[in-house]
Amino acid sequence: MAREDVERHYAEVARMVEAAEVDRRSGFNIVTETRAACTIEDRSEAFDIYEERLVEGIPKKALVASRGCGDPVSKARLRTGETVLDLGCGGGVDAIIASRLVGETGHVYGLDMTAAMLALAKENAETAGARNITYLEGLIEDIPLPDASVDVVLSNCVINFSDDREAVLREALRVLRPQGRFVVSDIVEFAPVPDSARDDVCAIVGTTNGMLAADDYVRILEEVGFSGARIEPKTVYTLDVLREKARRKGREERFERIAEADVDGKTGSVIVEAWR
Ligand SMILES: C[S@@+](CC[C@H](N)C(=O)[O-])C[C@H]1O[C@@H](n2cnc3c(N)ncnc32)[C@H](O)[C@@H]1O
Repeated sequence: MAREDVERHYAEVARMVEAAEVDRRSGFNIVTETRAACTIEDRSEAFDIYEERLVEGIPKKALVASRGCGDPVSKARLRTGETVLDLGCGGGVDAIIASRLVGETGHVYGLDMTAAMLALAKENAETAGARNITYLEGLIEDIPLPDASVDVVLSNCVINFSDDREAVLREALRVLRPQGRFVVSDIVEFAPVPDSARDDVCAIVGTTNGMLAADDYVRILEEVGFSGARIEPKTVYTLDVLREKARRKGREERFERIAEADVDGKTGSVIVEAWR
């Protein structure tokens, strides 16, 4: 999927979340009328991803907009006073959680290319009373921050969307201070998915541009200059997990097509860590 299509999709998600606010009578459900891009079941998995204490008091709109696949914020063990960059911040759930952890003396930058998402993220930060977040419009392949300006680079299920992942990782290294850390959630292939099933698997797990093999992720991180790169599996996408994801997204027919293919456990969400 081209970058413009990804942007259009996430602008639609942002609009859908805004519309959901209006539909309070249905208990903050996403309104199904705006189902061009999403259905009611294609809702956030935020409620399964984060520990309850982390999302306590986080604006509902940030949670409903969440499209992450893990919790890189907890893994990053943020400290008071640190500066954090969230690549592809979306509606801002990770940025808000991070802003609480780094406190008033710390700072969080949320970077995203989709203006409608950033507008939603700003509104969410304001509702949350988070004054230490700056949202930036731009590309993760060309980060609008100076060299060595952040302590931690986070990202939650975004890098896979890029058609130049090496540029993203090189940019992440550039903006990190010495000893800075890169802690992201993403989806990878643990073993090759058959070509005939790849598009359907991607549609079900929510990537639009294929996914990196775990070994390649580590290799590229090392090639661009990171050290200590490692990958920790979080959720292995067994057939049962894929079936449930397809159901939530209303993409059952996609699952039917791959049910007999050799895809069981070949993909999954991971935490990727590396150090500058
Ligand atoms: C799957 S959503 C994840 C959003 C957020 N991290 C979360 O956990 O809810 C992907 C987000 O990344 C943004 N995005 C995708 N490709 C991007 C790029 N190349 N540069 C900047 N933002 C990008 C999209 O606009 C969207 O908001």
